[in-house]
Amino acid sequence: MEKIFVNTPAAKSEIIVGQTWESVKELLPESGVVIITDDNILRLYGDKFPDLPVFSVTAGEESKKLSVIEYLAGRLLDSGIDRSGFILAVGGGVVCDLAGFLASVYMRGIKCGFVSTSLLSQVDASTGGKNGVNLGTTKNMIGTIRQPEFVICDPAMLLTLPEDEYLSGLSELIKTAVIGDKGLFEIIENSIKQILDRDCDLLTMLVTKAVSFKSMVVSEDEKENGLRRILNFGHTYGHAIELQRAVKHGFAVASGMELATEFSCEKGFVSAAEKERIIKLLNRFQLLDRHYISDNEMEEIITHDKKKAGSFIHFVFTEGIGQSSVKKISVSEILSFYKKFRDKS
Ligand SMILES: NC(=O)c1ccc[n+]([C@@H]2O[C@H](COP(=O)([O-])OP(=O)(O)OC[C@H]3O[C@@H](n4cnc5c(N)ncnc54)[C@H](O)[C@@H]3O)[C@@H](O)[C@H]2O)c1
Repeated sequence: MEKIFVNTPAAKSEIIVGQTWESVKELLPESGVVIITDDNILRLYGDKFPDLPVFSVTAGEESKKLSVIEYLAGRLLDSGIDRSGFILAVGGGVVCDLAGFLASVYMRGIKCGFVSTSLLSQVDASTGGKNGVNLGTTKNMIGTIRQPEFVICDPAMLLTLPEDEYLSGLSELIKTAVIGDKGLFEIIENSIKQILDRDCDLLTMLVTKAVSFKSMVVSEDEKENGLRRILNFGHTYGHAIELQRAVKHGFAVASGMELATEFSCEKGFVSAAEKERIIKLLNRFQLLDRHYISDNEMEEIITHDKKKAGSFIHFVFTEGIGQSSVKKISVSEILSFYKKFRDKS
């Protein structure tokens, strides 16, 4: 079992990797706790939940919207949850994003903690305090940054995760390796079979490495004024693909990383050999696909990107495995690179 901390000026958040999720009972306040989860998790794990009120949402990205927050806030009020209340989220990135956002706005803020159940949320979404919901077709448009009191990542829960969801999570793990941890990249390259077999000891180590890297980044730049931007590697094109082609987050980010890696190579930031190594690893897990997005669709989405400042976007490049940089790139250059890549493929 590993404990990792996110330390920010306003909060300290503890991330526990490799401990059974049922030990969460020991971390909860004595009263005023409710559980938020989704229908799949409730079906699979509900019989082992602590004896507390449970509010479940429909599983999947569709639930990440303001009307669901309004519904859940109503349930909290009906349950008598006041400012001393506590929300325990048990779920993947969607449930953690919803619960974290609700906890930050309900009665101007109550405490929360997460049992993080998907690979994607264990390696990425549940660390760092970002939360939020989508606004129409624009991802994560409304949200806050607020650290949970704790996050439990129990790799044994990943054994029930559907294969495509598992692969989707591997994409964010590879992202972490590409942007900041060459050693992690090499471990992944050398452990394809054990990863696909979901070896729990190996997963504990991989999740610990990913959480340690993200915690370091968030502790240094919680509000994303600088360093934290590197976590968006693959996300500029990835969000466009996710929205327009309705593919799972990790698969969209993988295609976004392929584009960002090709773009980095064209600009001379990464060698052709390292580019091939990154793309080969994404292909080993069958994360890449071709997605045709028209010029108008891509322009519409990039124009609404949260990373946009005026006519520029903070775009993340790879500068070799384990190294990354953020540069202000014009929207028009981002659009024209996409067009060139798409028309060549
Ligand atoms: N806040 C952040 O910093 C951050 C970072 C990355 C991604 N995200 C967000 O995370 C979301 C994606 O997260 P996700 O991939 O976990 O999606 P998800 O929460 O929808 O979970 C994926 C599916 O797997 C199921 N599931 C989860 N854990 C399971 C388990 N242990 N066993 C069986 N089924 C299980 C869920 O019910 C769901 O159907 C996106 O909305 C994305 O924007 C947020």
